Amino acid sequence: MASTQGAAERAQVLVASNRGPVSYTVDDSGSLHARRGGGGLVSGLSAIGPDADSLWVCAALGDGDREAVRRAGGGLLPGEDAGGQRVRMLDIEAQVHSDAYNGIANSVLWFVHHMLYQTPLEPVFDAGFRRQWAAYEAYNRAFAEALAEEAAEQAAVLVQDYHLCLVPGMLRELRPDLRIGHFSHTPWAPPEYFRLLPDDIAAALLNGILGADRAAFLTRRWADAFTACCTAVLGPGSLPGTAIGVHGLGADADFLRKRAHEPDVDERMAALREEIGEGRRTVVRVDRTELSKNIVRGLLAYRQLLEEHPEWRERVVHLAFAYPSRQDLAVYRDYTAAVERVAEEINSAFGTAGWTPVVLHVKDDFARSLAAYRLADVALVNPIRDGMNLVAKEVPVVSDQGCALVLSREAGAYEELRAHAFVVNPYDVLETARALHEALSLPPEERADRTKRLAAAATALPPAQWFLDQLQALRDLQSS
Ligand code: F6P
Repeated sequence: MASTQGAAERAQVLVASNRGPVSYTVDDSGSLHARRGGGGLVSGLSAIGPDADSLWVCAALGDGDREAVRRAGGGLLPGEDAGGQRVRMLDIEAQVHSDAYNGIANSVLWFVHHMLYQTPLEPVFDAGFRRQWAAYEAYNRAFAEALAEEAAEQAAVLVQDYHLCLVPGMLRELRPDLRIGHFSHTPWAPPEYFRLLPDDIAAALLNGILGADRAAFLTRRWADAFTACCTAVLGPGSLPGTAIGVHGLGADADFLRKRAHEPDVDERMAALREEIGEGRRTVVRVDRTELSKNIVRGLLAYRQLLEEHPEWRERVVHLAFAYPSRQDLAVYRDYTAAVERVAEEINSAFGTAGWTPVVLHVKDDFARSLAAYRLADVALVNPIRDGMNLVAKEVPVVSDQGCALVLSREAGAYEELRAHAFVVNPYDVLETARALHEALSLPPEERADRTKRLAAAATALPPAQWFLDQLQALRDLQSS
């Protein structure tokens, strides 16, 4: 692979992630259209400014991305496509990418860290799994080689997530001079669950991350689980060269408050008010339809609420936004179908001519999500397990009248928000129904007070600061 830069132009700060800050589609006339993404890394890299000499290395995810790489001569994408951010997109062979991303990252590592397997029948680590693992290694190697080529002497490299666990170790071998950080955006599995993985694979994943100078997590709980796995799999004393950090990504209050009052959000609010009907309370949830989000049990809890408390019938509407995610995987498609089926069952069991108990939307619309946040009386965030869950942090910042939060104790956000939320065991549908009732019944003054406290805790570490803290911690480590 040829470097896209001469030695003098190599980057001082590099970010590596599977999904980059821009994606492309090709229209019927063959024109390319770039679409920018958001999130903590985008805010962080813009905060360090154009002089910081940064580069984002990501993978081409679809045909549009591959065409963009081809037109860019295999190197850097046009600067304006990613808002001035320098991006190198890697055109990794489609089958290798699919085996690494769908096969290993999303069907194995995601399942392990979120503890999603139905263990009597799965996982099965067979020859097919080993073939996909070889692809995961090749895909990680492509990132490590690109980073090694693009990084200036002693540059800082921030590697993201479970897709790229092997990169720090591979990069360390290629470029021992670099300062390497790894950040996990997911939970980390406890040792007894992590050890479902074949022993050599478990060791390779841990050793890969331990190639970094610093491994960081969203909460202390996930960091402790990682170190416990290192001890269980690699033995005591396996961590000495790697510092462990915790950075609890918070909501971007300035951006959200401004964006939530733009005209398209007002339009969506008017449409939602029509769907809700006059004078009704709202229970709001907004998720990517991932198996870990627990949307079906959320609906069952809402159903239980309507059964146990008939006084809420006609007086509350559940706005449930379940946006598509990872639709290449059958198990995700089936889960989406289950969400739709249960929502329909509730509507046909309880609905009346003038009242639809569940308003379900499955088409991604950020403006509509913000409109729902503004209208929320209660936010329902009940994941089985979640690295952080930013929705729990965003709704209290945006809601117009203040909202109560029903929060799973298995979400990372629980560590920061627990004192002001209605905390539930995500598997306990009866407890969740009770929490919904209490949250809906909260007197307005107490609701306002809780919302203020939730918003303060939720915005304590805004995305730009979250990123800068990690960069600083990595630099401090090397200079100490
Ligand atoms: O939400 C957790 C997370 O791991 C994010 O860090 C990451 O951006 C995302 O999931 C990956 O999702 P996708 O498969 O859609 O790229």
